[in-house]
Amino acid sequence: MRSLENKIALITGASRGIGEEIAKRLAKEKVNLALIARDEKRLRELKEKLEKENINVFILSIDLREKNAPKTVIGEVIRHFERLDILINNAGTALSKPIIETSEEEWDEIMTINAKVPYFLCKYAIPYLKNSEIPTIINISSVVGYKGYVNQSAYTASKHALHGFTKVLAQEVHEYGIRVHLISPGGVATDLVNKVRPDLEKALLIQPSEIAEIIVFLLKFRNNAVIDEIQVRRKDNIPWR
Ligand SMILES: NC(=O)c1ccc[n+]([C@@H]2O[C@H](COP(=O)([O-])OP(=O)(O)OC[C@H]3O[C@@H](n4cnc5c(N)ncnc54)[C@H](OP(=O)(O)O)[C@@H]3O)[C@@H](O)[C@H]2O)c1
Repeated sequence: MRSLENKIALITGASRGIGEEIAKRLAKEKVNLALIARDEKRLRELKEKLEKENINVFILSIDLREKNAPKTVIGEVIRHFERLDILINNAGTALSKPIIETSEEEWDEIMTINAKVPYFLCKYAIPYLKNSEIPTIINISSVVGYKGYVNQSAYTASKHALHGFTKVLAQEVHEYGIRVHLISPGGVATDLVNKVRPDLEKALLIQPSEIAEIIVFLLKFRNNAVIDEIQVRRKDNIPWR
């Protein structure tokens, strides 16, 4: 198991939910962090908390829907840290609506945040990751990345797109030693699941800290075996369905 001390990780969607837990867990491993989201107040509060671990925390409040946002994010992170080891594409948004009620604006937003932004963050991060000792990209997908759920067509399309480009990305960066991991969870206890699956039993949801723990394992376990994709289900969900 490799130490992560002094490595630099960029986490999108770090203001709450899964991203916030990943940040807290990586801080315990002494990873320096670049945290991206819109909610500046929450980012500031988190930065203050995490700096108690004696790490360097850079925050950037930005709406990732803005044109050129991925280029701006990588530019600002490199300006601050001068290098990058780990990119975690976690920011995401979901929608629960039948196709006939979904607007073009909703489609565009979901495809932008869940597919286009991770794609271009990878593009702009690759030149810096090439120089890292543990170059890693982790894309947070979803069970809807390989299944189809009624009333989640736009969300499903966006996560299928994420799956699709991740498969090609992993092959294209293989020669540089960049490892690419895709994590596809079922229902996790965050604001997002409350929005799209309020019917799920709260006590049985996956905890964001459990996803964070998987990420630490992926980052520290750098031997000859490589894990391309991890599917994570709620314990009350039937396996393999
Ligand atoms: N919760 C689940 O059941 C579940 C299951 C499978 C996969 N996932 C995936 O896990 C990832 C994290 O989701 P979560 O459950 O933690 O959701 P969440 O609690 O709703 O958090 C979403 C994060 O994304 C950021 N974000 C959303 N829109 C943004 C924008 N326009 N610009 C910048 N940042 C934006 C939010 O920050 P601001 O609002 O501050 O901008 C927030 O930090 C997503 O990719 C999601 O698809 C979640």
